[in-house]
Amino acid sequence: MPESKIIIAIDGYSSCGKSTLAKQLAKQLGYRFIDTGAMYRAVALYLLKNQIDIHHPEMVAEALPFIKIDFSYNADTQTQQTLLNGENVEQEIRINPRVASVVSDVSAISEVRRFLVKQQQELGKEKGIVMDGRDIGTVVFPDAELKIFVTAQPTVRAQRRLDELKAKGQQTTAEEVLANLEKRDRIDSTRADSPLKKAADAIELDNTHLNRQEQFDLVMTWIKQLKQTGN
Ligand code: DC
Repeated sequence: MPESKIIIAIDGYSSCGKSTLAKQLAKQLGYRFIDTGAMYRAVALYLLKNQIDIHHPEMVAEALPFIKIDFSYNADTQTQQTLLNGENVEQEIRINPRVASVVSDVSAISEVRRFLVKQQQELGKEKGIVMDGRDIGTVVFPDAELKIFVTAQPTVRAQRRLDELKAKGQQTTAEEVLANLEKRDRIDSTRADSPLKKAADAIELDNTHLNRQEQFDLVMTWIKQLKQTGN
């Protein structure tokens, strides 16, 4: 393990298994894990619930001071819950199809990004953090010691997401999931503010043919190499 605490930034397309990897690494290293997608999803949920029109950024900006996002860690299940103004919304932000359909548009609003990036940078001040998202290595922590850019074939990603939704009791089809995923990838990579892109110094990790353990083992070798090179 690196002697001193580092920041691990994980970016990549939707449903690439970024959070799974981030959680495994955080557990192994004793670091904090933050899924920044959950923060954008929580903002999207708040806007939907309060019927705030996401096509009016000034109205969205006015709502932001009323949004408080926290994370609570459940030691029994080793899972992290997202709290929106004190209410546990973890399940809802993951399975509500309305959240999935607006979240990329919400995350393209600069005011929303500024609001959340500030909180994310604050969370990483002490280092010892694994954060996943779309702009972690490029915008949130451009000086992160380890940056990973995760990719996988879209059909493989859609199947993984479908399995996840089905396990949570959601009725949906492979076509619907693939269409939503491709739409989100397109919006995320083409938006004007902080588009999803690989940081110049990020390591690309294509996990199309890797299982969770193989992916984890590979990244742990990178972390050990970092230690040897003095980080
Ligand atoms: O990782 P996810 O699918 O839960 O993310 C939900 C949306 O939030 C995704 O469409 C892109 C956006 N997002 C972002 O723009 N920047 C981040 N750091 C994290 C997520």
